[in-house]
Amino acid sequence: MKEERREVIYRHAKKWILEAGELIRKKINDPLIVETKSNPKDLVTAIDRETEYFLAKNIKSTFPDHFLFSEEGYGEDLETLDGVVWIVDPIDGTMNFVKQKRNFAISIGIFYNGIGEIGLVYDCMGGNLYTALRGKGAFKNSERLPDLAPNLTLEESILDFNHYLLCQNDVIDERVMQRLVEKIRGARSYCCAALALAYVAEGIVDGYLTKKLAPWDIAGGMIIANEVGAVTTKLDGNPVNMLMNGSTLTCHPAIQKEIIHDYLKKGKK
Ligand code: IPD
Ligand code: CA
Ligand code: CA
Ligand code: CA
Repeated sequence: MKEERREVIYRHAKKWILEAGELIRKKINDPLIVETKSNPKDLVTAIDRETEYFLAKNIKSTFPDHFLFSEEGYGEDLETLDGVVWIVDPIDGTMNFVKQKRNFAISIGIFYNGIGEIGLVYDCMGGNLYTALRGKGAFKNSERLPDLAPNLTLEESILDFNHYLLCQNDVIDERVMQRLVEKIRGARSYCCAALALAYVAEGIVDGYLTKKLAPWDIAGGMIIANEVGAVTTKLDGNPVNMLMNGSTLTCHPAIQKEIIHDYLKKGKK
């Protein structure tokens, strides 16, 4: 993609994500109508839908040749990542949004012919916008995020994951995950993929792993984290497919092999 074209797309995406955040902030104390989707823990609100509609309307009217792949129904069913594809989660962390009114984010990842070019994750209640243009660095607001330090051991690492969900249905042996929890410095579970990935970019968390997510959960944050040197694969080390739901591990490169080979593969049932 030509640099000037990418800049134009980025400027629009940044304007719209900030405006979308402002819309959410204005409504944050309004009474919420909460519905459930696939199960009682899978929540959605009118604000999820309105935020996606706002972004979809702007994307489609300004860039009619771009594609949208998104959670709440205003996008398209895509079979390829050809052309410019916006992968959007209007609210990632809806449960946090509903209960806590914080710890959620708007996430946008923009791909060109399958390559992640632009990432934006907006923690609109915390007032932090994480952004990246591939090859041009990652930012938290106007502050450039440094590349990840060259060395890190698993003993020094903080990882974000949900131990129970990773072991559910006997996919990974619980005892192996317990060994991982004992080995690392600390485990966290922010329950917002986009923010967890932004925290990996910021270097305040060293890895995020999860058994099953949709592309819109990870697209924006993955581009930002990878820009500072983090690496992303599925839990088995294979590449992620940005059109399908699947597992994902994004982490500091120094701990990737050990997590996959000494824990995830050994624990696989
Ligand atoms: C959820 C969040 C959460 C993850 C869930 C996702 P949503 O997205 O990313 O961290 O554990 O699996 O569904 O539904 O709040 O956009
Ligand atoms: Ca959802
Ligand atoms: Ca999500
Ligand atoms: Ca969502």
